[in-house]
Amino acid sequence: MANELRALILGDVVGSPGSRALFFGLKKIIKEERADLVIVNGENAADGFGMMPDDVERLFTAGADVITSGNHIWQKKDILPVLEAKEFLLRPANYPPGVPGHGHCIIEKNGIRTAVVNMLGRSRMGFNGQCPFQTMKKLVRELNGQADYIILDFHAEDPQEKEALAIHMDGQISLLFGTHTHVQTADERIFPHGTGYISDIGMVGPSGSVIGADPEQSIKRSLTQLPIKMEVIDNPAQICGIVVDFADGKAQSIRRFKQMASA
Ligand SMILES: [Fe+2]
Repeated sequence: MANELRALILGDVVGSPGSRALFFGLKKIIKEERADLVIVNGENAADGFGMMPDDVERLFTAGADVITSGNHIWQKKDILPVLEAKEFLLRPANYPPGVPGHGHCIIEKNGIRTAVVNMLGRSRMGFNGQCPFQTMKKLVRELNGQADYIILDFHAEDPQEKEALAIHMDGQISLLFGTHTHVQTADERIFPHGTGYISDIGMVGPSGSVIGADPEQSIKRSLTQLPIKMEVIDNPAQICGIVVDFADGKAQSIRRFKQMASA
């Protein structure tokens, strides 16, 4: 088999419990999993909403090769120059032209070039940007010959939209992994033409929480229907993600990853 590559993909990083868990634990996981390429969705690293420049630095120092994001990336204004400056920090590709930052990158590890793309869903996301299906098709055409593998982080709410895009792109990309819901799904599989898939990889964030937030606030919010602010609860973190083996341009295996942080 040619161009063998193992990717460790973790996310979404929620608040300081999530950041801390990777800062102190990611190197060990990379070693144990013998990962060649590490992708981390960091979009909730800054207290649950967006990323600050320090969060980005910490995740790269921890061992992330590529950091992806999503709808919350615009929350902290300080991130804008960093989005422009850092080639391997991504924001969704399907924003209109002229928006700061990069929607994809090509990273080379062990002589293997992987294009990593970040895209935002439009179903139940309150996002009216460019069509993720058409944008992905166009991008794949542009990337032709430039990468051995194409990996897409589809940051989206609706499994219908995620599955549809993955099947639409089957054989044209190597992996579509979903992020955003913070709940790891048990539907990982490989489609007939070699595209690996999971609806959501889960969360690197506090255990005993409601998708990272304090359950008390979340319950109160539901009971009262008031716009109560959700705050990250400072509990020990769970680390969720996937480990994917690639060869010959395709996903060969996909396995869910989940462990409690030791720090
Ligand atoms: Fe999100």
